[in-house]
Amino acid sequence: MSEQNQNKQIVLNERPNRGPINDNTFKLKIDEIKQPGEGEVLVKVEYVSIDPTMRGWLNDVRSYLPPVQIGAVMRATSLGRILKSNDSNFKKGDLVFDTFGWQEYWTGPGSSIQKRVTPEGGRDIDHMGLYGLTGMTAYIGLFEIGQLKDGDHVVISGAAGAVGQIATQIAAAHSKCTVTAIAGSNEKLEYLKKLGAHNVLNYKDSDFKEKFRELKQIDVYFDNVGGEILDLALAQLNPYARIIACGAISAYNAEKPTPIYNYFNLISMKSTMKGFIVLDHIDKFKEGSEYLSNLVKQNKLKADYHITYGLETCVNTLKDMFDGKNLGKTVVSLKDENENEEKSKL
Ligand SMILES: NC(=O)c1ccc[n+]([C@@H]2O[C@H](COP(=O)([O-])OP(=O)(O)OC[C@H]3O[C@@H](n4cnc5c(N)ncnc54)[C@H](OP(=O)(O)O)[C@@H]3O)[C@@H](O)[C@H]2O)c1
Repeated sequence: MSEQNQNKQIVLNERPNRGPINDNTFKLKIDEIKQPGEGEVLVKVEYVSIDPTMRGWLNDVRSYLPPVQIGAVMRATSLGRILKSNDSNFKKGDLVFDTFGWQEYWTGPGSSIQKRVTPEGGRDIDHMGLYGLTGMTAYIGLFEIGQLKDGDHVVISGAAGAVGQIATQIAAAHSKCTVTAIAGSNEKLEYLKKLGAHNVLNYKDSDFKEKFRELKQIDVYFDNVGGEILDLALAQLNPYARIIACGAISAYNAEKPTPIYNYFNLISMKSTMKGFIVLDHIDKFKEGSEYLSNLVKQNKLKADYHITYGLETCVNTLKDMFDGKNLGKTVVSLKDENENEEKSKL
């Protein structure tokens, strides 16, 4: 195989049983670039996503998507450009989005992928975050699941991450709402204040629980982390509060999830806790994009990205996310060095 014909991939090597991913979880594989057949396209991948949910895809359990199989390319949503097309709906250079995975090239049917257009003055990378699944998760979470209302006190955990940064700004921009944002470092708290959060709390501080209990009662809790923080929030609900069960990152690598003691407050406070998967709400994405784009125009919303460069960085970048090293949405850029204009833009 000549060097020009190589497709670097990261494949699942073995499942990390009940613990963090380790050096044996993935391995690098060099495959041949597959030429497109009838109705197929060849995509050069430019960005791949790094998401907490990837940890769940490695477990051989029933979930909202089947587990990634041993030897398969690691699943990841991605953005790329058409290099060759045998599908009349696509031409060379078109921007496309789908689950191309942790690999440099993808070949498959054009009918299974989505064309994307970046508006004048916009950034391609926003298809991975702001107008991608994380932006939509924040929007759907707050409005469809959380039924956000004027004047609500909204508490958001994991607030400086991909979903959290958007949710914090949407809630802060919403009429008379008060936002309490929780994250794991003082640098992140400073960032969250700039995004408009009214109160900020570091869950790693020794007096975090006391400070949490001093907060006024909660109308909406946007839960990205589960565990102890969820339990604290449950103890402090206003009547008819809504808990948005978006994620539980504190449990993804744990042997057992942290016990929840205060769930019965859902009964006494006549409150709801509802889980959701953003992919079930595609019918609302257009409305969501328009809503977010309006906030951007009013300078009430921006999206930040944590970018690493090169396919080989995917595994460590995923590990680092669990250690909270990211601020904003995490992506790996597979663009050639001179194409990485985001470095100077962000
Ligand atoms: N339901 C859906 O459809 C949907 C869609 C997308 C994402 N999600 C979920 O939403 C959550 C956020 O996803 P994201 O993509 O926005 O990730 P992210 O927030 O960008 O990254 C994860 C963050 O979690 C924090 N964290 C790690 N371990 C933690 C722990 N033990 N306790 C508290 N915080 C911890 C870290 O920040 P700190 O420095 O603050 O610790 C880290 O930066 C995840 O649980 C994810 O699974 C759900």
